[in-house]
Formats: sequence, structure tokens, C-alpha cells
Amino acid sequence: MPSIPAGVRGAIITGWGTALGEKVITNDDLSKVLDTSDEWIVERTGIRERRVGGTTAGLSVESGRKALAMAGLEPGDIDALVLATTTPDRTVPATSATVQNALGLRCGAFDVNAACSGFVYALVAAHGLIALGMNRVLVIGTDTLARITDWDDRNTAVLFADGSGAVVLEAQEAGTQLLAWDIDADGSAEKYLYCDIGGYMHMDGKEVFRRAVRIMVDSAQKSMKAAGVTADDIALVVPHQANVRIISAACERLGVPMERAATVLQYAGNTSSASIPLALADALNHGRVKPGDHVLLVGFGAGMTAASAVLRWGGTA
Ligand code: ACO
Repeated sequence: MPSIPAGVRGAIITGWGTALGEKVITNDDLSKVLDTSDEWIVERTGIRERRVGGTTAGLSVESGRKALAMAGLEPGDIDALVLATTTPDRTVPATSATVQNALGLRCGAFDVNAACSGFVYALVAAHGLIALGMNRVLVIGTDTLARITDWDDRNTAVLFADGSGAVVLEAQEAGTQLLAWDIDADGSAEKYLYCDIGGYMHMDGKEVFRRAVRIMVDSAQKSMKAAGVTADDIALVVPHQANVRIISAACERLGVPMERAATVLQYAGNTSSASIPLALADALNHGRVKPGDHVLLVGFGAGMTAASAVLRWGGTA
């Protein structure tokens, strides 16, 4: 991955917001209709309950509005909207267009689909827009996986859910928050995790698990090396929230203690593009990050894609 050229205009995150589906579905709820149990789901995935409901645009508007309020900005201040989603509400137009209008933004808007790596892809793209002269970019990660989940299939129904997380990225003339980044994809692995148009998610869980740990660790190590940091320097890892065993195996291989990982999957399930911003917001709201801390974002997903970024919270200057 190319390193960030010296002198490039950087950015910092100045606001964040989240939204979850309204309806809570517990493991016990699922075990009433599927051949599964709370014990199995908790032990194999770490998920205790998940939230479903809402549209991709609706959840995005809720998280985006909160992020704008926290940053103290008006809709007219935003120069671009980048929405990461793998579950757009319609094929055409892009869901970001619906969100742009509902939020009252007057700017360009586009969707990014890189499955569960999508938020990191979108964040990197937003930094690119700022490097090219924009001042404020709203980045949202949202998925409504409940709509593409076969609720009679215990292999997938216990995992997927709906949610959204948003951040406001503002240009900073001196110093930047993003120290290094990596994006990757291996289209030859698409058969292990896919959803045809109008269909349901299909997943080879074991193969996805095996590849997930490897590609997350590879991507994270590339970003950490480019940022000039080691595992000891990472104060917080914000991984894609697929399975606590994947997170723990990845942390172990990276040499970062599991206590430094942000997790929301226990109450939010796997929300794909939303999972990293939801976990980041949860950690920030709990005061787990202070200025100067190094934060590692790392995702993997269908494609199969992987992406990571090392942030220095508050920027370098
Ligand atoms: N409840 C009870 N038993 C179950 C369930 C369930 N929900 N699902 C499977 N089982 C059974 C299986 O049938 C199998 O039974 P058998 O031994 O009699 O054959 C047994 O439990 C073990 O099944 P495995 O598939 O080996 O279970 P595993 O430990 O691999 O866990 C899981 C399955 C949780 C799906 C895991 O493989 C995983 O998390 N994989 C990665 C999934 C993932 O990350 N997906 C999202 C990617 S991100 C994106 O792009 C959306």
C-alpha cells in the first residue's frame, strides 16, 4: 500500500453517531424457532442479542444527524457524503442520494460496497476527498442484513443484524489522524460468502472463519508497519464484529491483548458495514480513547475484502 505522501492535507474525526434496529431479538427468541440455543450461539460467536428493523436510509439519517450535531455542523457545511453499505434500499438510485436529501445536505453523495470492510474503505476515500480540497465529509456505514437473511437458516440467522454508525471528518491543515491504511480484495473467494440479487446470504462459515483471521492480520500488519507502530503502541483495536473468536484469534496473532479490542457484537450482532463505526463509537462514548492514542481499525468481509487503518486520535499536530 502506498504510504501517505508528505504534506498531504489531513483530517480528524470531530463527531460520531449511531443507530440500531428497533426490535431486539435474543438468542432465546431464536432458539424457539430454530434448532439452536443461547449456549451454542454465545460459545461459538459471542453474540447474545441483535437489533433488527428500519431501512438503510432511515438508520443512516439517524446516525448521520447525531454525528453532525456532535460536530456542531449544519447540513450545508458538508462537502460530500460517502455511505458504505452492502444492503442499499434500491438498486437505483444509490441510498446515499436518499440520505443526502433527508439530511438536507447539498453535496455529492455516493455508496461504497466492500461488505464488512466497507466503512474503512469509505473512510480512506473520504480522506482522499479532503486531500483534494474538500473540508468536511460525512462518512456513514449502514447495513440492514435482516432483509437478506433466511431466518430459517441457523447457520446465518444467529449472526446478522441491522445498524448504522457515522463520523464527520474535518480537514486539518497541520497534522492528520490517519497515519496509514490498507485496502485489499480477493474476488476468487467470493463463493464462500455471497447473496444474489433478491436472495439470501450464503456462507461457508468454516472457510470464512479460516480466511478472516489471516486477512485481518495481514492487512493490520501492513498498516501498522506503514504507520511505524508496533502492537504495544495500539491502545484500541476496532475490528469487524463477526465473531468474538475471530477477534480474539486475530488479536492473539497481532500481539494485542484482547482487553484492548472494542466489541459490540454481544448486543448488536454482525451489522457488516456498520460494525466498525458502532464499535468505535461505543469505545469513544466509554472514554476508552484519549488524544494521542493509536487506534487500529480492521475489517474483513464478502469479496473477500479486507481493510485497515491506523489513526492517531486527535491528529499528529
Ligand atoms: N446452533 C446450533 N448448532 C449449530 C448452529 C446453530 N446456530 N449452526 C451450526 N451448528 C452445528 C453444525 O451443524 C455442526 O454440527 P455437527 O458437528 O453435528 O455437524 C456444529 O454446530 C458445528 O458447526 P460449525 O460450522 O463447525 O461451527 P463453527 O464453530 O465453525 O461456528 C460459525 C459456526 C459461527 C458460523 C463460524 O464458522 C463463523 O463465525 N464463521 C465466520 C462467519 C463470518 O464471519 N461471517 C460474516 C463475514 S462478514 C460479511 O461479509 C457479512
